[in-house]
Amino acid sequence: MRFFLDSANIDEIREANALGVISGVTTNPSLIAKEGRNFRQVVEEIVAIVDGPISAEVISTDAEGMVAEARELAQIHKNIVIKIPMCAEGLKATSRLSQEKIRTNVTLIFSANQGLLAANAGATFVSPFVGRLDDVGHDGLDVIREMVEIFDIHGLATEIIAASVRHPLHVTAAARAGAPIATIPYKVLMQMVKHPLTDKGIEQFLKDWETVKNK
Ligand code: E4P
Repeated sequence: MRFFLDSANIDEIREANALGVISGVTTNPSLIAKEGRNFRQVVEEIVAIVDGPISAEVISTDAEGMVAEARELAQIHKNIVIKIPMCAEGLKATSRLSQEKIRTNVTLIFSANQGLLAANAGATFVSPFVGRLDDVGHDGLDVIREMVEIFDIHGLATEIIAASVRHPLHVTAAARAGAPIATIPYKVLMQMVKHPLTDKGIEQFLKDWETVKNK
C-alpha cells in the first residue's frame, strides 16, 4: 500500500516527505482554507516538495467550470491530479478530462456504485471517505472492501484511495482490504510511527549502553 499525505500544510508535507514514506499529497478546499493562503501558491509549493500525484480540487459546480479550472491547474505541474466532486456534473467533467489525458481523483465517494460510475467516467483515482461514513453509523471500511472486490473482478484500472482516515486502525484495515493507497493526515501518520514499547526499548538500550560505553 502506498501513502499520500492528506494536508495542505507545507511544514507537515516537508516533514512527512523527509520520512520517505509518502508518494503523493491530497488537498481539498477545507484543508486549503485552514492554511489561509493563496491556493495556487500552496499547490506550487507542494509540487516542489513531493514528486508524485498532488490532488488539487476544483470548486465549480458545473462541468464546464470544472473543466476550465482543471485545465488551468493541470498547467502548474505534470504531477497535478484534478480532484472532482462525485456528482453528475463531476462525472461529465471527469470523462472530458480523461479524454484530454488530464488525471482526476473523484472525491466524496460514499458507495461502491459511485466508485464504479467514476471509474467508468475515466477517473484515475477514486476517494471513498471512510471516517465520514463511520460518523453517520456506517462501516466506512465496508465500502473499501466492496470497491476493492468489484474493481478487481472487473479489472478496472482506477486506483482506490482510502480517504477520510481518522486513526491508524483505518490504515491497517484499508491495507488488509487491499486498497492500493491511503491518504493520511499528518497526525495519523505520526501515530503510526510511534509505539510505546519502541520508545521504552530505545530508552532502555541507551541506559544500558551508558554502563559500558567507557569500557
Ligand atoms: C481526501 O482526499 C480528503 O481530503 C480527506 O480525506 C477528507 O477527510 P475528512 O473527512 O477528515 O475531512
